[in-house]
Amino acid sequence: MSVPLLDLTAQYRTIQDQVDDAVRQVVQSQRFILGAAVEELEASVARRVGTRHAVGCASGTDALLLGLKALQLEPGDQVIIPSFTFFATAGAVWNAGLRPVFCDIDPVSFNITAATVEPLLTDRTRALIPVHLFGQMAPMEELMELARRHGLAVIEDAAQSIDAAQDMGGQARRAGSVGTMGAFSFFPSKNLGGFGDGGMITTDDDELADRLFKLRVHGGRQMYHHEMVGTNSRLDALQAAVLSAKLPQLDRWTEARRHNAAAYDRDLAGVPGITTPVEEAGNRHVYNQYTIRCHRRDELKKHLDQAGIGNAIYYPVPLHLQPCFSELGGREGDLPVTEQAAREVLSIPVFPELTEAQRDQVGDQVVRGLQEASPPGR
Ligand SMILES: Cc1ncc(COP(=O)(O)O)c(C=O)c1O
Repeated sequence: MSVPLLDLTAQYRTIQDQVDDAVRQVVQSQRFILGAAVEELEASVARRVGTRHAVGCASGTDALLLGLKALQLEPGDQVIIPSFTFFATAGAVWNAGLRPVFCDIDPVSFNITAATVEPLLTDRTRALIPVHLFGQMAPMEELMELARRHGLAVIEDAAQSIDAAQDMGGQARRAGSVGTMGAFSFFPSKNLGGFGDGGMITTDDDELADRLFKLRVHGGRQMYHHEMVGTNSRLDALQAAVLSAKLPQLDRWTEARRHNAAAYDRDLAGVPGITTPVEEAGNRHVYNQYTIRCHRRDELKKHLDQAGIGNAIYYPVPLHLQPCFSELGGREGDLPVTEQAAREVLSIPVFPELTEAQRDQVGDQVVRGLQEASPPGR
């Protein structure tokens, strides 16, 4: 039996009526640009995340880019980001005219920490983008404390972590509610995914929200009056309607992801040759990915590919080593924990509709792949 890494068709089957109805309503209204559907989703997400504002935009990439532009920094100002993340985190910094400064990660959580950020601070550092990688929040209490001490803005890259939460001073805080802003993606493979691209920025800051609402429509709230140079980065009404129809299922889907993760944790515990992900104390991990580590990762991947088990390497090449950033001077060896993670990580299917039989098959094939990678006695 083959098992895909993600099965969006299985999800669609369970919500087809609600989603099709939502799409039909937008089509019948012929209101495709902003309007009630987008406002409704913005209100729901703001409520859910726990911020005063949520501003829809065209993608998670644009959520980061618009967030950075709203900070009104000077060209060349430095923004500290993890090197171990999806490219968009760095691309947004670069496209905002700022300088990405690549940071190493904690080997267990794959996230940046105050200790990995602190040595990189300079008098040009203006902002920090912690990425809540794979669905678990970076340690926000210590990062916010550091940011406060150095006067830095914090944009949480929450693209993979809608509904992730962390205990802060006895209160569960959701991803995207702690920093200056939070950036979300509704790319189809995210925990809340649309039928195409989409994104959202959350914030408690009224002035930033006002700037964000302007930046996504060419820099003005009133047509043909431009207070700043923005762009066209709206969330489509069709996407907003699909996402609002899906939103009531998110708790159930997150629980299913967590259930699958707990089953893998149990089944793969103590299997020699791999390390399973760790939900850190005080965290609610939402497992956008279930990512294991393995010294013989490439052999295990080959086995899973041959056995028809969906898997992926997020991410094979750290961003400080990408050719497009060569002028920043990144060298192999600069960020050893990141570089080792890039050699060892492998994500396996954890999507909510995964059946027990499929999950068992994945677990069995991981164990078998490891036995092949390192036969007993060798
Ligand atoms: C960590 C991270 N940041 C940013 C993005 C960008 O989001 P999008 O693909 O919606 O532009 C993604 C998702 O692809 C991501 O995983």
